[in-house]
Amino acid sequence: MDSKQDAKVRIEQLRTEIREYNYYYYVLSESKISDFQFDSLLKELSELEQKFPEFYDPNSPTVRVGDDRNQQFEEAEHRFPMLSLGNTYSKQDFLEFDNRIRKAIGDDFEYVCELKFDGASISLSYENGKLSKAVTRGDGTKGDVITENIKTISSIPLVLRGNGYPDFFEIRGEIFMPHKVFEYLNEIRRKEGKNEFANPRNAASGSLKTQNSSEVAKRKLDCFLYYFVADNLPSDSHFENLQKCKEWGLKISDNMLKTNSLDDVFKYLEYWENNRNKLEYDIDGVVIKVDSNSLQKALGETAKAPRWAISYKFKAEKALTKLISVDFQVGRTGAVTPVANLEPVFLAGTTVKRSTLHNADYIKALDLHFGDFVFVEKAGEIIPQVVGIDVSKRVLNAQKVVFPTKCPECGTDLIRSEEEAAFFCTNYNGCPPQIKGKIEHFIGRKAMDIEAGGATVEMLYNSNLVKNVADLYDLKFEDVVKLDRFAKKSAENLIKSISKSKKIPFEKVLFSLGIRHVGESLSKVLARHFKSIDKLKDASFDELVEVGEVGDKIAVTVREFFEEEKNNMLIERLKSAGLQFEIDDVELVADILAGKSFIVTGNFGTAQRRSEIEDLVEKFGGKKVSSVSSKTDYIIAGEKAGSSKISKAEKLNIPIISEKDFLDMIGLE
Ligand code: IVH
Repeated sequence: MDSKQDAKVRIEQLRTEIREYNYYYYVLSESKISDFQFDSLLKELSELEQKFPEFYDPNSPTVRVGDDRNQQFEEAEHRFPMLSLGNTYSKQDFLEFDNRIRKAIGDDFEYVCELKFDGASISLSYENGKLSKAVTRGDGTKGDVITENIKTISSIPLVLRGNGYPDFFEIRGEIFMPHKVFEYLNEIRRKEGKNEFANPRNAASGSLKTQNSSEVAKRKLDCFLYYFVADNLPSDSHFENLQKCKEWGLKISDNMLKTNSLDDVFKYLEYWENNRNKLEYDIDGVVIKVDSNSLQKALGETAKAPRWAISYKFKAEKALTKLISVDFQVGRTGAVTPVANLEPVFLAGTTVKRSTLHNADYIKALDLHFGDFVFVEKAGEIIPQVVGIDVSKRVLNAQKVVFPTKCPECGTDLIRSEEEAAFFCTNYNGCPPQIKGKIEHFIGRKAMDIEAGGATVEMLYNSNLVKNVADLYDLKFEDVVKLDRFAKKSAENLIKSISKSKKIPFEKVLFSLGIRHVGESLSKVLARHFKSIDKLKDASFDELVEVGEVGDKIAVTVREFFEEEKNNMLIERLKSAGLQFEIDDVELVADILAGKSFIVTGNFGTAQRRSEIEDLVEKFGGKKVSSVSSKTDYIIAGEKAGSSKISKAEKLNIPIISEKDFLDMIGLE
């Protein structure tokens, strides 16, 4: 296509056509054309857009792939608070709600029953038919602006269809991850040795907070919208308004029921309680709403929830399945965790094959036997739990499950310290899963950030190339490239990434060592306080507990770590490899802010500037915190600073200072 004008026309044509196919596919679940035909149209559009960048449109169907750059989320206040819902767990409770409604508005009204989607709630704003903003629920009054992430969700239209929609409106709904996607992503994560998502809801809400929208695009999220907020509503009926929204391209569930009969409401509740596993996504109940908007207004709301709607929550789903065997897994700290292997059973949308048995006491309390039929339950965000046993199904002579006395991996006697429920293998430097676990921890993103997963560690360990974290720094390209899974490029990347990690600052190196009880934030505190590994190593118990955040238990484990000669030898090897074992002066510029905690809130021109200010707080020895408490010393407020933070700070008499005041304080102004 040569003429610019022709290209413009074709681009517009393609965008409209693709949007319409998307609408049928994602909102109405109908395929109008084959995947191949659809991909060809998208490809044609994408090529034209590349050739004619002057016709760029942020709302083009091609922008759904996301952007690789890291984003920081700004906060935005909700025009109307995002309320939650009152809960009922029984029909009796619901009847009480119904009575209250009838007392207030009489009998002439209808209910709308809807599914209660179990995901992360979102508020979408449309201006002149275009998606302008997407904000998370946050604390109900303000949330994070995650528009770029939301744009990657195919069922959310960037541009509305048809006409007649208000110039400005908000629509709220739930973002969720369909079961199939959840299982598929977890399978990949398992293979890559990454932590699996606990359930589809966590996966959805975690994905929305991902700072890289191209990663969000891979998560294949979906949404249902259920609450339309505008000054000029097309109809007084909530139900009718949502049907209009559907015509405009917004995804509304088909499983809604409008009725004035309580009998119908109960049938709906029962049907979905029994049939929820037929859905391709999780629901955790039903929402019952008064349909008329004017009656909703008359009923009003409390500070927390509307009086015109209520949720009926389902009981946690249970399933009965057989216990096949129990694995006793040894973690990197030596703690032994029992895990039940179960006959696969379908429960609340996912297949359950394994479930934690927590510890020896839990197994004893259950009186668990091999071959037992056990009840597994998924409640809220918790991973499947074995909650009981159907003893009537136990076979004669079934063997009791007993906690081992020796480490199942290396045979060392297990010990149990007084205050802990777990048994430990004390062969900390010789037990294979502990060694591999320590290496995995060491290379983790928040630690040395070396690009490798569990499978790579396994391979390096099994091939005898890496038996401890210091061995990583002796690895040679020639050794790695010989291994099965490695090609030239991936071997090069691994070596490069290991070499790059030598620049990782001391606080992270300290965290990477995996000293018990020394997590990410305590590592920072210790690094700042002692400034070098040698000083930390020499610190006595008393000197350790002098540091605010260090209690007796932590001081003991830190001392124990440095009393172990093997650990010191490892540190010496890491030092010779060139890792950072002290804070250089540039990093901690001065201790002026030592012991003071700061909250940085609001806009400072750019997100970059805000994080620069946060860095300065830390570089000058202060602590950056995120929620206001009596322990907060200062609030550094930019434009549109979070109003709830400010009012809380005012109540607590915490000084609220500007960027300039802060720079003055550290002598940079
Ligand atoms: S209506 C003012 N409808 O449940 C009323 N909420 O527990 C706004 N939810 O925060 C909510 N499905 O995230 C409504 N069909 C549905 C829903 C629904 C799921 C969520 C929503 C809300 C939470 C309250």
